[in-house]
Order: sequence, then C-alpha cells, then structure tokens
Amino acid sequence: MLKDGPATARPPITHWPTPALDGVDFDPVLAELMQAGPITRIRMPNGSGWAWLVCRYDDVRMVANDPRFSRKLVVEHDVTRLAPHFIPAPGAVGFEDPPDHTRLRRTVGAAFTTPGVERLRTRAKEMLDGYVDGILRDGPPADLTERLLAPFPLAVVCELMGVPEEDRPRVHEWTTLILSSAQGAERSEQAKNDMCAYLGGRIRTGEVAGGDSVIGLLVKAIEAGEVTAEEATGLALLLQIGGEAVTNNVGNMVYILLTRPDLMDRMRSDPGLRPTAINELLRYIPHRNAVGLSRIALEDVTVAGQLIRAGEAIYVSYLAANRDPEVFPDPHELQLERSPNPHVSFGYGPHFCPGNMLARLESELMVDALLDRFADLRFSVPVGELRWRPGALIRGPEGLPVTWS
Ligand code: HEM
Repeated sequence: MLKDGPATARPPITHWPTPALDGVDFDPVLAELMQAGPITRIRMPNGSGWAWLVCRYDDVRMVANDPRFSRKLVVEHDVTRLAPHFIPAPGAVGFEDPPDHTRLRRTVGAAFTTPGVERLRTRAKEMLDGYVDGILRDGPPADLTERLLAPFPLAVVCELMGVPEEDRPRVHEWTTLILSSAQGAERSEQAKNDMCAYLGGRIRTGEVAGGDSVIGLLVKAIEAGEVTAEEATGLALLLQIGGEAVTNNVGNMVYILLTRPDLMDRMRSDPGLRPTAINELLRYIPHRNAVGLSRIALEDVTVAGQLIRAGEAIYVSYLAANRDPEVFPDPHELQLERSPNPHVSFGYGPHFCPGNMLARLESELMVDALLDRFADLRFSVPVGELRWRPGALIRGPEGLPVTWS
C-alpha cells in the first residue's frame, strides 16, 4: 500500500455463478461479498475477466453518481456479467453518458413526471378494475400473475407508450425473451431486433400515437432535431421493457404478504400505512439476480480506499446498499413503518429509474385491489410448489395460484 494513499493490492476474485434462488431469499454469494470488505472483485458467468464490486450505501451512491465512471464505454468492453447477450441499441439510455444521456432522457421526461403519471391514474384504475372484476366473476382459484400482475403493468406501460391493444401480446413475448437468459443469446437478440423493428415502425407512423404518449413525444423530438429516429427507437425499447419490471416486483410483494399474514392484516386494517409499507417492500425485495450494468473508470479513481485504474469495470449493488446497517437499522427485517427510508431500489444518479413513479402507482393500485377486494386471499397450493423464474435477470414468481372466500 502507498503511504497514506489508496490500496493497490487487489482482493481475490469471487466467482458469482448464475444464482438459483427461491422466493425473496437474499443471495448468499452477495451476502458473503458484503462481509468480505467494502470493495471486492467478482467474475460472473458471461463476458470475460473480472470487475470491481461495491456494496456499501455511500460507495454505491458515489460510484453511481460520479462522472468519472462511464456507461458508454461498457459497450466496448466484454465486461464479466450475468446476461448472455449484450448488444444495446443506439439510444439505449442505460449505455449513454451525459450530455447525450441527459438529452435523450429529457425528450420523454414529461411522460414520467408526477403530473404525467397522475394523468394516467384514472385510466389505470379503470383497467385494473376490469382485470379484478374478471377474476372475481370467474371465481377461485386463479393465477394472479397471469390474470393481473402480468397484463396490468403491460397495459399501463403500453398506454403510456402509445402501443395499441392488439399489439400487446407480441410486445410482452419479446420483453420476456429479452429479459431472460434461459433461451440463449440468439433468441434474446432476435426478440430485441423484432421489438426495435416494431417500435421503429410505430415511431415512423407516429401521428397515430397521440401527442402525450411516449411515442408521440419521441416523434416531436425527432421533428425538433433533438434525437435521431434510431436513438428514439432505442429509448422506446428500454422504456417498454422496463415497464414490465413491476410484474415481478409486485409478484414478490404478493408472495411476502401471503406468507406473512401479520403484515397483510396490518396493511388491510390501516390503509394510511400502505405507501410507507410499499416503500419498505421495495427496499427489501431483491429485485434482480446478481448485478446489472457495470461502469468503466475514465481515469484512476479511489473508491473505498482502493485504487481503481482507468479502463477497469466496476459494479454497484443496489440490493446490498439497501441492506447497509449504517443506513437501515436491522436491515434484514421488514419494518412496514420504516421512515426515513432512502432506499436505492430505483438506482441513483443520472441513471435513476425513470419509471419509479409509474411503478409506485401500479404497485399501490394492485396491492389496494388485493387487500380490499379479495376476502381471505391465500395460496391455493402449498408454498413449496411455487416456481421462480429460472435464468431470469429480474427475480419473480412464475405464477401465483390463489384462492379466496
Ligand atoms: C433503470 C429499478 C420499473 C424503466 C432502472 C435501474 C433500476 C431500476 C435499479 C438502474 C439504475 C442504474 O442503471 O444505475 C426498477 C424497479 C422497478 C422499475 C425496481 C419496478 C418496481 C420501471 C418501469 C419503467 C422502467 C415501470 C418504464 C416505464 C427504466 C429505464 C431505465 C431503468 C428506461 C434506464 C435508465 C437510464 O439508464 O437512464 N430501473 N425499475 N423501470 N428503468 Fe426501472
């Protein structure tokens, strides 16, 4: 170690295999990495070499918000990663840096602000009631994933995007293929190309989309010379895919509530607690497997006392940061009244999830419906028979078979 300088000796590399986790179990490899030290090195199933990993809340926020780490450069590196495929479309905001990143996100910003999302509330509630009425009409048992948690967020994001009803099934199938590693890289890549071709087509004929929709905003931005058609398509793709994250996240919420009747009872009897409780569920739920997109150091940077050299890749774990005991007392406990609760489940810094408010709106509407409209909601099969999506980047139940009285 340099005198008073950053550490240059490197910690050992931990192999992080594709996790096979059930329920909301916390990944044991990540738990070990959190114990091993503030900064570690990891190797994952795809890509090559190794990357740095930070887990502590402050370090995660620093790296996620520091312009000395680039997302754009990730495209040029075959960074070790969980996902088998790695060919982002131009305009995919996940792989851009400011100022281009800022320019792209600004074009659709209006749709994702509080007023933009609130405008959707009434329509979203109508659509939700339609799904719930259908389930109640058909009677128990029902698979909540199939009947509500999958179709509702898809319908809401399609509404926001300006994707018509008849096209929603294909859009859903492409999304599932893109977000899964189980079918292999080729299927995912094909699905991505098909969805880009579809969205590109809708953007070209954008006049039918409606001015307030994301596609409508993108058409205007192309006309104003703010983005190219190719960039607009890449951005639309990511927003459309991101929209379905809610299915899995709320799937995990429902799983928790049905296996913890004490929590369910409290939320049922105290509606005022629900927004705080949902925020805590968002903190607690391990939304994804392993880690998402890395960042590349543009210059030598010291993180957690360790020298990161220019060109090296680094990951942050938002899941680990959400369990940092310095910020969240008893972090492995679900405390429905937890406040303040500055979790980073939607990320941090310039890449902070643009869909966060939409996700909250949809989660609140679905949880309200399940608590208020179904008496004695419970699983219709033993919990041990539930299946969890294999090989997926985002974690969640494959189905939620339930019954009610
Ligand atoms: C980015 C979480 C729902 C669209 C992200 C990031 C996280 C996240 C952790 C990455 C931050 C980073 O790269 O550092 C979630 C969770 C959701 C959710 C937990 C649901 C509970 C949504 C929805 C949409 C969406 C509903 C779209 C309507 C996106 C997009 C990005 C993103 C486009 C990339 C942003 C960028 O790189 O600038 N999300 N998200 N997400 N999310 Fe979400």
